[in-house]
Amino acid sequence: MSDRLIMKLRVVGAKLTTPDVLVLDLRHPKRPALPAWTAGAHVDVMVPGGVRQYSLWGDPEDRSRYRIAVKRETAGRGGSKWLHEHATEGLELHVSAPRNHFDLDGQVRPCVLVAGGIGITPIFAMARALAAVGADFTLHYCARSAAEAPLLDDVRSVCGDRLTTWFSQEGRRLDVNALLAQSAGAELYVCGPLGLTAAVETAIDAQGFPVERYHREHFAAPSGAGFVPEAFEAIIASTGRTLHVPAHRTLLEVLRDNHVVRGSSCEIGVCGSCECDYLSGDVIHRDAVLGLKARGARLMPCVSRARGVLILNL
Ligand code: FES
Repeated sequence: MSDRLIMKLRVVGAKLTTPDVLVLDLRHPKRPALPAWTAGAHVDVMVPGGVRQYSLWGDPEDRSRYRIAVKRETAGRGGSKWLHEHATEGLELHVSAPRNHFDLDGQVRPCVLVAGGIGITPIFAMARALAAVGADFTLHYCARSAAEAPLLDDVRSVCGDRLTTWFSQEGRRLDVNALLAQSAGAELYVCGPLGLTAAVETAIDAQGFPVERYHREHFAAPSGAGFVPEAFEAIIASTGRTLHVPAHRTLLEVLRDNHVVRGSSCEIGVCGSCECDYLSGDVIHRDAVLGLKARGARLMPCVSRARGVLILNL
């Protein structure tokens, strides 16, 4: 687990927003104000057998509650299924203080927001923040249909005509190449399934869109299909110590074994809590958190590896 504040919060509202997305309102039983958060933040929620990350999408000015949306993942690890079956009013859940790896990078440029399915949660929080300060933004929301688009009414009421919906059942699919071509000079924020972010990244490469203006968040770790881990060496820069990372162990495990303590939470590369800096090395990034620019200096040791020798800034 991370060393963040963990609170016991009570479910005070539980309602389906689509047939497979459950909205939960969480309050502290005694304290009137929860820790502050900004658009793009998520919390860790403890469920039997593990920890799950959920983006906050409510109003950050309302410190009395957190709002999350839980998609039932039939092929997941069971956490979302458990919440769908057990999270009713009165249930108490252990929830971390918010963390933000996907924050708005200033508001000097127009912002183009792109969400796929449940990826709307952090993107909607961004839209709300941008709308509150009168910033220039558009939101492109992709889903199979209106009935399967979580929070659609809330998104419409905040975004108005700045929202464009792309419902595949109606034959409307977002053309990411066309969108990028129209978005020169904008900051681009994307959250959705791997297929969506992969399509955006292909278009970014093809069109030379500046990677420093691309920000993304996945809600699942990249597939491990076909990846064959290999052993490598990790050097701790401050001490010069060399640690061997065998093929069957993670860098995080080896750091812990050697008392180089790292906080962690998800251990599947989606929460960002184990992040560390490196000075040099041929890193194989396998997380779903870091953007392209950040990957030049940071890695997630729970999933990412290296070829040859990696020098860690520890
Ligand atoms: S522990 Fe979550 S990214 Fe490493």
